Amino acid sequence: MTRLRTAILISGRGSNMQAILDAARAETYPADPILILTNRPDAAGLTLADTYGVATALVDHKPYGNDREGFERAMQAVLQEHHIEMVVLAGFMRILTPWFVHQWSMRMINIHPSLLPKYPGLQTHQRAIDAGDSEAGCSVHWVTEGVDEGDVIAQARVPLLPNDTAETLAARILPEEHALYPVAVERAALDILQRP
Ligand code: GRF
Repeated sequence: MTRLRTAILISGRGSNMQAILDAARAETYPADPILILTNRPDAAGLTLADTYGVATALVDHKPYGNDREGFERAMQAVLQEHHIEMVVLAGFMRILTPWFVHQWSMRMINIHPSLLPKYPGLQTHQRAIDAGDSEAGCSVHWVTEGVDEGDVIAQARVPLLPNDTAETLAARILPEEHALYPVAVERAALDILQRP
């Protein structure tokens, strides 16, 4: 069966990356994560990726300063070298320019720890608490030019409890992310594979 050549982009811990790598062990999984790309030399997820035997690459954003597109063109070259067909953002902490988003239009997805369209951007957990919401959660969405604005592919919900802090809420949502993201990656990959 055809499996999409997939890159997972990370900036840190890589726990969502790990959940996807675990799911992708099944030969019938439609995404084949063949590359882990990071912008941070100290990303803990790199060591984790090594234990899975997946190729890793580093494109450090720092030397590019404010030249976001220059950084992205360097990433794009690496993605092309590996003939990547789908990009999965998993805790990748750089805002992407319209240029890069356009390169991967309807082929790039992201996970965000809120029930989008609520709370795009940062500090999502605290903002849900401050708003007095009764539930919170996470969303996987197609990446478009607006930050965290693309169509939602899948969501998971958790209750928000009276004594929650940003930390306890994040800890309740994280396992939901790990369950949700592999399912959403599968859905997105099948969508891409079934296009004419
Ligand atoms: C996750 O909470 C994800 O929703 C957010 O960044 C965090 C990444 O965690 N975008 P990890 O690197 O996957 O462990």
